[in-house]
Amino acid sequence: MSKLIELYEATAKQPLATAHSLPFGVYNDAEVAQLEAQNIFHQDWVFVCATGQLAQPGAYFALRLAGEAIALVHGKDGHIRAMSNNCSHRGTPLLDEGYGHIEKNIVCPYHAWTFSDAGELKGVPFNAQKCVNKQQHELPKYALQEWMGLLLINLADQPSDLLASFDKINPYLKHFDMQRFKQAYGGAIEHWNSNWKLAVENGIESYHLFMVHRNTLEITTPSKKAYYVAGHADWTITGGAMEGMEQGTLSKWFTGARSEALNHYLLVFLPPGFIGILTYESFDWISVMPDGPEHCTVYVGGMAETAPGAGDKQANEFAAQFLQEDKDICERVQKGMGSRHHQGGKLLDMERIVIDFHQYLAKHLFKSPTCAFREADAADMFKH
Ligand code: FES
Ligand SMILES: [Fe+2]
Repeated sequence: MSKLIELYEATAKQPLATAHSLPFGVYNDAEVAQLEAQNIFHQDWVFVCATGQLAQPGAYFALRLAGEAIALVHGKDGHIRAMSNNCSHRGTPLLDEGYGHIEKNIVCPYHAWTFSDAGELKGVPFNAQKCVNKQQHELPKYALQEWMGLLLINLADQPSDLLASFDKINPYLKHFDMQRFKQAYGGAIEHWNSNWKLAVENGIESYHLFMVHRNTLEITTPSKKAYYVAGHADWTITGGAMEGMEQGTLSKWFTGARSEALNHYLLVFLPPGFIGILTYESFDWISVMPDGPEHCTVYVGGMAETAPGAGDKQANEFAAQFLQEDKDICERVQKGMGSRHHQGGKLLDMERIVIDFHQYLAKHLFKSPTCAFREADAADMFKH
């Protein structure tokens, strides 16, 4: 084990009182990236897209999951499957990355081997069928689970029990009645010049809002009104008050139509890379995946009761603006990660969610024991 990886482990497993930022080297090191691909992205449950984004038969979403080409396909038989997107002939990615639609079959762009939307090899050109065992060339399938309208996949041979862990999140979400959110939207894919962990840490903590987003998010969801709700290594929920909401909903509380909780937002963090912001109106997210040691891909999406109309232009511009602010700061931080000073600084209580993320890393990369589940006082408002 390299010295850097030893230091990674020692730092990531620290509890709150002694928690520090990770050593800078883990944000630009190829060996670390490989370890994370192997023990996290190819081993644990990873969010891919919303069920609503694959509503029609034939709809697909293709992506690279830490180097592995994957496609989620809604087959004509009504099933959504997670399968390899590598041609079983010589490995060419079959479907183009991003969202798309399969007309009839999946045809490899190299030598035109043809697969059904369920991944069975159907045809090989030039009458070569006899020498190719079709069953042996079926596309490998992966475990797929749905939770709250989100699709997560797991590439491991023996996936862990995802729903057992996520069930404990449900009580905090009950006032938001997420079952209403049937319309998925978005689908933008961004490429950031930063390590995936920087984008995740930045996406989950509210400490930077007053500085990086002083003209955007700080106005609606200020740093000082953000708080921890509940969490541990497996997932974390934080929340915050939304400025200017009290007046608008006060009368509705009295009629019993809305609870106080709905004047707040919840941030739902499902590591490794899903960060969702839940309000009564919508559930919007970014999902971060590594793309080598110093780059990441950021998938943007959301869902709501009704599809956003033209009137949401302002909201879209607002989102684009704060996302650009996040991208800029992450790319700036990345430039600092080449420093030979490997020790990061102390993490604050306001950054507890970052500490939970580090505990997740320690658990999955090094099998370290992690801190117990913690619920803060704020949890009461959401659970009751
Ligand atoms: S690589 Fe796909 S058909 Fe040859
Ligand atoms: Fe941000």
